[in-house]
Amino acid sequence: MDTVVAAMSADVRRLAINPSYWYPVVRGRDLKDKPVSVQIWGVAVVLWRSKTGVHALEDRCPHRLVKLSHGHLRADRIECAYHGWHFDGEGKCTHVPYLEPTQKLPRCQVRTYAVRELYGFVWLFAGNAAEADRRVPLAIPEWDHLNYIATVSVIDCKAHYSYLIENLMDMHHAPLHSDYQAWSDAVLEKLHEEPERVDAHYHAQSHYRIDRIWSIAQLFVPALRKPHPESLTVSYVYPHWTSSLGADFKLYCLLCPLGPLATRAWLVHFTSLGAFNDLHRLPKAVRLLVKQSLFGSARGLLDGLVRQDILMIEQEQQAYLSYPDHPPWEINRALAAAQRLMRSQVTA
Ligand code: FES
Ligand SMILES: [Fe+2]
Repeated sequence: MDTVVAAMSADVRRLAINPSYWYPVVRGRDLKDKPVSVQIWGVAVVLWRSKTGVHALEDRCPHRLVKLSHGHLRADRIECAYHGWHFDGEGKCTHVPYLEPTQKLPRCQVRTYAVRELYGFVWLFAGNAAEADRRVPLAIPEWDHLNYIATVSVIDCKAHYSYLIENLMDMHHAPLHSDYQAWSDAVLEKLHEEPERVDAHYHAQSHYRIDRIWSIAQLFVPALRKPHPESLTVSYVYPHWTSSLGADFKLYCLLCPLGPLATRAWLVHFTSLGAFNDLHRLPKAVRLLVKQSLFGSARGLLDGLVRQDILMIEQEQQAYLSYPDHPPWEINRALAAAQRLMRSQVTA
């Protein structure tokens, strides 16, 4: 992966990733009692869960280079499907079923990755595992907060990750979502750049307000939406993105760039229940039940927005491949700042 970084181009559509960050690779609930193969920037990684935690190795048996993820779990080890060699979570071969008495175990070493399970995702540090503790996964404090209802939606697009980030930083694309109309009339007021983040502060009209128990009906009945001015902040916190619209909504986009032309990401949306004072006086267990039973309630809205965004992002990618000499016109300063951050992260 480091070679790919070195070979990156200044063309933002051909940039590699900075692997020395934490990337979500699978939802924790999807990693059960079988090995799972995931991908991060062209590298396949096998994950498995044991009593001692989640393990991550490059998904390639050192014997004949087949995928370890086709194998089976043996306690906290993984057994290759082909000849049955066993590997531990440290990537060491611990057993060869047909080893002759005079032979020693092969001293092969499979590459290991640092992993953490947080906020319902398994996060992988795509760089050198020894450097993983220097950084932490993006903080998502609302995940466990009793006042927030979460919804998760997956984005799978056949495009370079830069198109997704630019889509998310450009709040002038409300016309695309006119049937959902979460916000409109965005005006970019302030832009702030740091080495690892870009914050774009817009002023906009928010079309949803969560102040009544039936506020959810606004999702289905456009006439109930009452546009009102709100601050709208979008932040590219490399390599992820986060946004807040007034006090009611918080959104995260957790990126997992699969390769130069494929990006997976998870949108994690939170609706605040801060306006419901009676609810906060209830016992914690009841509030937890409310939070859990409302999980996913914004799914229809989120999936709809995702479908519309993917359509545009994939068209942009295809146009870039078909007409490399026709660069697009861009006037939003937030996108230029996001591109500066992408470039600096892979060239630093
Ligand atoms: S290829 Fe994995 S044990 Fe032979
Ligand atoms: Fe969008």
